[in-house]
Amino acid sequence: MRVDDKFLRELESKVLAYRNRDKDSGDRKTYDEVFDRDTLMLLYDLMTNEVIDELDFPIATGKEGNVFRATTHSDNFLAVKIYRMSNATFNNIQKYIAGDERFRNMGKNRRRIIHTWAQKEYRNLERMYAAGIRVPKPIVCTKNIIVMEFIGADGTPALHLRQVELEDPQTVYEQLLENMRLIHCEAKLVHADFSEYNVLMLGQEPVIIDVGQAVLLTHPNAFEFLQRDVKNLARYFRKYDLTLDEKDMMKTITGGK
Ligand SMILES: Nc1ncnc2c1ncn2[C@@H]1O[C@H](COP(=O)(O)OP(=O)(O)OP(=O)(O)O)[C@@H](O)[C@H]1O
Ligand SMILES: [Mg+2]
Repeated sequence: MRVDDKFLRELESKVLAYRNRDKDSGDRKTYDEVFDRDTLMLLYDLMTNEVIDELDFPIATGKEGNVFRATTHSDNFLAVKIYRMSNATFNNIQKYIAGDERFRNMGKNRRRIIHTWAQKEYRNLERMYAAGIRVPKPIVCTKNIIVMEFIGADGTPALHLRQVELEDPQTVYEQLLENMRLIHCEAKLVHADFSEYNVLMLGQEPVIIDVGQAVLLTHPNAFEFLQRDVKNLARYFRKYDLTLDEKDMMKTITGGK
């Protein structure tokens, strides 16, 4: 793409303006890491294609990337997850993809591996959404950027399960157990990072997020990951005095097998 004045002006007003607002804060370094030149170009494309109109603010800064709220042209909100193209991200991701057959022919190209990782998250999201699991609706994925449904109310991002006091823990537990059953029996996946940090509460409804590391049931560690997910679910709900048997939970999730 040719970088002309119009491009720079639009970018300035829609992306960099937001970044420059924080020029005195320590977060500025993070912004510079996230908004490398290629990522800015991709954001510009998303804006030109009218997927989003503006990036509003960062919802969260994670180990591998940042999640932003974005506004669309019709004044709806979307969530934009941007994987940082840095060495740190690459090193974290490497741990997960070493030995995974889908990445066997990836070589050592850092960019390509990070792009593939974002695509893996997006594909997992699509697969879960199609199976009726309550995850953010996938909108589009381009290189290291994932655009998805914004989980929140009136523009305010939803809180994590761990941040809220549940009115009806039994019902939320049952909803999560059913979602885990659907992940296993319908999407044929294991989330593999399930915890109260990766569930957002939309009112009283749990929404499962962060599906990048989810693996196929055929993955050699799938069962071990599932046991860990179940343990986390049980541990969290025991604080509400629910009597939970992890073996029974496993049975329900795996469809009695
Ligand atoms: N669709 C969404 N709508 C609203 N907020 C979201 C959405 N997706 C993610 N978030 C927020 O961004 C945070 C980070 O997202 P996510 O867990 O997917 O990324 P991550 O980089 O793996 O982060 P971490 O390393 O903290 O697990 C979430 O904990 C949540 O607060
Ligand atoms: Mg997370």
